[in-house]
Amino acid sequence: MAFSTVTVQVPATTANLGPGFDCLGVALNLYNCFQFTQNEASATPVDITVNGEEAAGVSTASDSLIYRAFAHLYDHFGQSPPPVKITIDLGVPLSRGLGSSATAIVGGLLAANKLAGNPLENQDLLQLAIALEGHPDNIVPAFLGGCRLAVPTNKGWEICEIPWSENLVPVVAIPNFELSTQQARLVLPSQVSRDVAIFNASHLGLLLRAIETGRGNWIKLGMQDQLHQPYRQQLIPNYTDVESAALSAGAYGVAISGAGPTLLAITSFGDAENVAQEMQSAWEKAGIKAQVMPLEVSKTGASIKTNN
Ligand code: HSE
Repeated sequence: MAFSTVTVQVPATTANLGPGFDCLGVALNLYNCFQFTQNEASATPVDITVNGEEAAGVSTASDSLIYRAFAHLYDHFGQSPPPVKITIDLGVPLSRGLGSSATAIVGGLLAANKLAGNPLENQDLLQLAIALEGHPDNIVPAFLGGCRLAVPTNKGWEICEIPWSENLVPVVAIPNFELSTQQARLVLPSQVSRDVAIFNASHLGLLLRAIETGRGNWIKLGMQDQLHQPYRQQLIPNYTDVESAALSAGAYGVAISGAGPTLLAITSFGDAENVAQEMQSAWEKAGIKAQVMPLEVSKTGASIKTNN
């Protein structure tokens, strides 16, 4: 059946969670919504409208990520994409380490696949989305929901769901400045020692058990990382102050969300509001405005609605 309008809602994600660099992420209940209307009669290939506070930061030209992802599905089959009107309702802050690019890639590919009559299974779409982004840790939870570990194999990515304990609350502290993932990757060393590899492997193993069991003392230890955070902290003003404020207010652990600059704290339900307030005031004391909020894990991931 051919659909002329497809709407895709895709959740924000927080990746890495400390030691799970480029392999672990969790979907959060903040969403971008993308509506695609196929218009065969249109003379322009794409017409993009963006709504939301940060709308000015999104390209409305044919180089925009959402359209590139949409067109990529058709390119994959050696076809030209149909003319399309795209309306974006932004709910995920841009360039803050909350997976806004992944929402565009997942949204564009899912919509194109639906409008093209479902030529690809979800499993293949997911592999295509990971290849477009370059790493799986935002894409996979944005697509599938929940907390996911992605493991490279010689046949693509093996995905494992990590059960998220009902006792754990993700709190995000989103400062009002951007940090590009590219810049945050440039500061990382290209090689690490065996000691660092062992440190991260052991802490990630512990973190996965901690997430499943909700054991706070394991979260605290398990969120430690030596692969990327020591290098990225310098890109986030007052990182140490905000981390200390969260830990003093009862957070189990704090990590940079994705490539930053958002910080993620994991807390109990009882401490979540207090942790959020203390993180916000720590940044405010340094003159940095931040939006800080306890969130929920989005269990369902990307969802599609169609209208004829
Ligand atoms: N794992 C990635 C990074 C997340 O930390 O650079 C950003 O997409």
